Amino acid sequence: MPTIREEKREMYETRTGGAEGASDGKSRFDDIYDRPDPRAYFQRLAPLGYEIPHHAQPFFRQIATDRAALDDGHRGRPAMLDVCCSYGVNAALVNHDVTLAEMYERYTSPAYRTMSRKELAARDKEFYAERRRPDAVTVFGLDVAAPAVQYALEVGLLDAAFTEDLEQGPPGTGLRGALAEVGLITLTGGGSYITARTFTALLDGTRRPVWVSAFVLRTVSYHPIVQALAAHGLSTTVDVSRTYPQRLFTDERERRYAIEAVRALGGNPTGREEDGRFHSLHYESRPDTR
Ligand SMILES: C[S@@+](CC[C@H](N)C(=O)[O-])C[C@H]1O[C@@H](n2cnc3c(N)ncnc32)[C@H](O)[C@@H]1O
Repeated sequence: MPTIREEKREMYETRTGGAEGASDGKSRFDDIYDRPDPRAYFQRLAPLGYEIPHHAQPFFRQIATDRAALDDGHRGRPAMLDVCCSYGVNAALVNHDVTLAEMYERYTSPAYRTMSRKELAARDKEFYAERRRPDAVTVFGLDVAAPAVQYALEVGLLDAAFTEDLEQGPPGTGLRGALAEVGLITLTGGGSYITARTFTALLDGTRRPVWVSAFVLRTVSYHPIVQALAAHGLSTTVDVSRTYPQRLFTDERERRYAIEAVRALGGNPTGREEDGRFHSLHYESRPDTR
């Protein structure tokens, strides 16, 4: 049986359904995912208060540090792979002295709105280099949006990036090579897009002990992914009493969808989705040592 250990009491019911079906009623933002730079992304998400990378930041930093400190018998420090990495938001927040609020301010400010992409990239490169933390970890990114990861690479947020869709096919040679270095997989905002197929493809290719830290909407069942991780010897914990606001609903239709989806998965939307925002749970998976 796959393991979901509950650290606080509230039943987390592992019903089937999977990410694909559950995301049907959620508004889509495909048009801001593959732009040449992150301005449209932040401008569109600002009014919706998209904030999950901010909640993930302290966890990812700590987990990256803890994972790096683990002697796993391999040479060199393990890399972090941020899945659905987009413009490198989590890489920015883990490795730099910057907040998500500062990123919103930067990319929505009137001065930056009119700047050419070339100038923005040059300024961003400098901005992140100046804020680079001494404990920065190697971060690889995976996202189907090639222009977004290209930007993150160009400004120095990602050390390597891959754009294959592992929902559709196996990793290519470059990603397979990178997976050998990966010791931590992170995810924010992607739980409605990827399924156990992506995680299975990734874990099949890893060579070091892998930890997974994922923030996933309560409207989506993480159970199929927990099963896939368990098949690779990982045990998952989640504190279902602690939720993290992700963003405001776009409209009443999306709110109704979310409330129903949360209820269908055994959650209670009172005081959370009922009040107007998506909420996520934080899942942590580590090699099962029992
Ligand atoms: C809501 S954004 C999240 C971006 C970032 N992690 C954050 O929290 O700000 C979702 C991302 O998932 C990506 N995506 C969608 N389907 C994907 C797939 N099959 N494999 C990898 N990335 C995918 C999109 O291109 C988009 O960049």
